[in-house]
Formats: sequence, structure tokens, C-alpha cells
Amino acid sequence: MAVDLLLGLQWGDEGKGKIVDVLTSKYDIIARFQGGPNAGHTLEFDGQKHVLHTIPSGIFHDDSINLVGNGVVIDPVIFKKELDNLAKHGIDYKSKLLISRKAHLILPTHRLLDAASEASKGKAKIGSTLKGIGPTYMDKTGRNGLRVGDLEMADWQDRYRALADKHEKMIAFYDVDVQYDLKELEKEFRTAIETLKELTFIDSEDYLHKSMKNGKSILAEGAQGSLLDIDFGTYPFVTSSNTTAAGACTGLGVAPREIGEAFGIFKAYTTRVGSGPFPTELFDETGEKMGRIGNEFGATTGRKRRCGWLDLVALKYAVQVNGITQLIMMKGDVLSGFDTLKVCTAYKYKGETIDHLPFNIEPENLEPVYTEMKGWKEDLTKMTDASTLPKEFNDYVEYLERELETPITIVSVGPDRSQTIQRS
Ligand code: GDP
Ligand code: IMO
Ligand code: MG
Repeated sequence: MAVDLLLGLQWGDEGKGKIVDVLTSKYDIIARFQGGPNAGHTLEFDGQKHVLHTIPSGIFHDDSINLVGNGVVIDPVIFKKELDNLAKHGIDYKSKLLISRKAHLILPTHRLLDAASEASKGKAKIGSTLKGIGPTYMDKTGRNGLRVGDLEMADWQDRYRALADKHEKMIAFYDVDVQYDLKELEKEFRTAIETLKELTFIDSEDYLHKSMKNGKSILAEGAQGSLLDIDFGTYPFVTSSNTTAAGACTGLGVAPREIGEAFGIFKAYTTRVGSGPFPTELFDETGEKMGRIGNEFGATTGRKRRCGWLDLVALKYAVQVNGITQLIMMKGDVLSGFDTLKVCTAYKYKGETIDHLPFNIEPENLEPVYTEMKGWKEDLTKMTDASTLPKEFNDYVEYLERELETPITIVSVGPDRSQTIQRS
């Protein structure tokens, strides 16, 4: 069977966790293919809220296998916290969680390097989640990294020490004030590694190929969003992995021809957390209101998310780069009561009107061009059937479908699993 993908189309936090959980009953295997604990995927059901960082969002279903793929970077310390939390909720994760031996490990010193790098950048900082993501992927591409499979090697301790010592020299090189007690951090790290080793490590690309041959269905869960992609995002204000469809191929060992549906998920407006350009950002009461009603605070760092109108230029770009076949629109309920909705349809760029995302979208170069639509007043959060959705909401959705030339097959009207409406 083919591998379906679910990808964020904006700057992350589109609601991937919620929808993966909703779709999991249709799949045998849920596989994360990139990112790491920088992600915060929120799921709500039975009156409870769960936030996952590294563990795939299918873990709450009894019949699905959850795989952490080779493209993911794992911090054993955060991973252990996630496992402890699952155990608290009575989830038997050992029987349904598999880890790729080729996934890279985030060491305590990677986190410190992230902090040192950010501190050295001053105002130009990326606004990273400080989880060590950048330094770990740098060690991966620099061919210095340590992987999950290395934990099974006899020389693991020596290799760990050599890399951590090198990192300490690099931290000193940054010449910034980063306070730390490495002995304490390593104690916590060692304990977490013992927990990690209780899980099943596999050669995941082989496992996935055999599963496909045996007719198993697979959903690849993306982290972050297309505009944070290392190649196609708003560089350098991006994360350090390929968050787009291609990342699923390299992050799982799945060939392009094996990709089936590509679900693209977006909010009915736009948010961003951390630094970097955001053409439709609002600095007024409207933006405040979106953030307030949408409860826009980061699931990993708690930082306030920046809010703005939907950017159709950026969304079209993401649909193209990923080859999206179906769209999922989240948080339509948050826009209830806005008299007028704006959608950015083009940019004024260096005196010209353009309809694509240019190399540089810094605000001094670019001004959004908006079209306006009538908003809806009705509370959507109790609606369960597409036939009850208000006309203005349907107008908004149908307008986006036309512009993006892709059907919007699911709309989400609240954070709970049940607040999900299937369109045709
Ligand atoms: P992810 O990183 O893409 O999984 O998204 P996050 O979990 O970081 O952020 C999405 C937030 O929106 C979470 O707090 C969700 O509970 C919430 N959420 C998801 N879908 C909806 C929706 O349709 N309406 C509302 N109001 N909240 C939603
Ligand atoms: P999910 O999967 C939103 C942002 C950070 C920062 C930049 C680089 O929950 O959608 P990093 O720690 O990766 O080096 O940070 O990327 N960022 C996210 N923003 N959602 C995420 O994940 C993010 N992961 C990273 O805020 O701007
Ligand atoms: Mg998130």
C-alpha cells in the first residue's frame, strides 16, 4: 500500500497532532519522519489534553504502531518525559512504539550549543525552541552525530565523551554567558537512555517496506510546517530539517512513487512563533483577538504566537512544493464573529504586484494585497455535520478551494477529536 503524508503548510502549529489522531483509525502505522522535540502536537479527547513532542500522534489508539523514523532527532530526556506521561495515562506504549536505529540523538551539549548560538546572534536570533535541533542536524550532516543504534555499540561511552568534549570547546568559542552543570545534565541523560533502551530499536526502512508489501497502511506525520523547511522556508528563520513532502522520503526511506495522498493542513488564519518575516502579521486588536480566541501559545515553549490573516500566496507555494492532494482547514471556529475576513492574494514587491513567494519576504520589501470576504457569526464548535455550516463559512472554504485548486475535505471547528467535520 502507498504511504500517505500529513504536512503543515504554514509556520507550524496548524493542528497536525489533532488530525493525525483523528485519521489514525484508518492506518496501521503512524510514522514521524523529521523534527524532534521542537514540535508540540496537541490532542484532545475525553476531556483531556495531551501534548506530544517526539512520539507520533497515533499512540493513543490501541491498534496502531507508532514509528519514530530515521529523519527524527531524539532527546532521550524529553522522550522519557513523554513516555512517563503516557504511562500515567495507562498507555501501554512498549507494544506499539518503534524507534529507528538511524535516528540521531540530541545530547545535552547540543541543547547548550543551541543556547550559545542563539545568545551570540543577539537581535538576529532565530527564536529557536532551544531543544538542540540545529546543532544535532549540523552534526548529522557534518557526519559527527550519534545515532540510536550507537547505544547498542561497545564503544558508545567513548564516542559520547569525544563528541561532548568537542561540544564544550565549541560552547566556549561562542564567548557568551551560558551557565550549565554538565555532570547533572549527563546524569539525567544516562537515566533517560536506559529508559529508551527498553524500547524496540529497528531498521525502520526495512520494516516499512515489508509492511507495505504486506498491505499495511502508513501515515507519515510531519512536524513544523512548509515555511519552516530548511530549503523552502523563510531561511534563515527556519528549522533544520526538510518539513516538506520530500522529507518523508528521506526521513523514512520511502520512495517518491510510494507516496499516495498528501494531506496539507492549514489554519483559517496564520500564526508564527519565533523570529522571521510574516507578511500578513497583525499588530492590532484584530491580531490580539485571533490570539486570544485561538489560544495561540506555543505547545512546546509557551511563547505567544504571532497572528495574522491567511496568506494565500504562501499557501499556494506550500501546496505546490508538497504536491498536496487534499486540504484540511483548522480553527474556522476562531474566526466566528469577525465581520470581515481578509485574505492575502498577492504581494506588492519592489513596486510590482507579484503572485508568488519571492526570495526575500522581509517587510521592508513587501506589502500584502488583500481581498475581503464577509465573515460568519455562528458558533461552529457544536456543529458536527457539513450541512449545518453557515453560508459565509462555505463561501470562504470554496473560495480557497478554487484558488488552491485542491479540495478541502476536512474542516476542524474546535480542539477536540469530535470537533471535526468531513466535507464531501
Ligand atoms: P501542531 O503542532 O500542528 O500539532 O499544532 P499545535 O498542537 O501546536 O497547535 C494547535 C492548537 O490548536 C492546539 O492547542 C490544538 O488543541 C488547537 N486546535 C486544533 N484544532 C483546532 C480547531 O479547529 N479549533 C480550535 N479552536 N483549536 C484547535
Ligand atoms: P510543530 O510540529 C511552530 C520554530 C521555532 C523557531 C524555528 C527554529 O509543533 O508545528 P528550532 O527549535 O527548530 O531550531 O526553531 O522554528 N519552530 C516551530 N514553530 N511549530 C513547531 O513545531 C516548531 N518547531 C520549530 O519557533 O522559529
Ligand atoms: Mg505545535
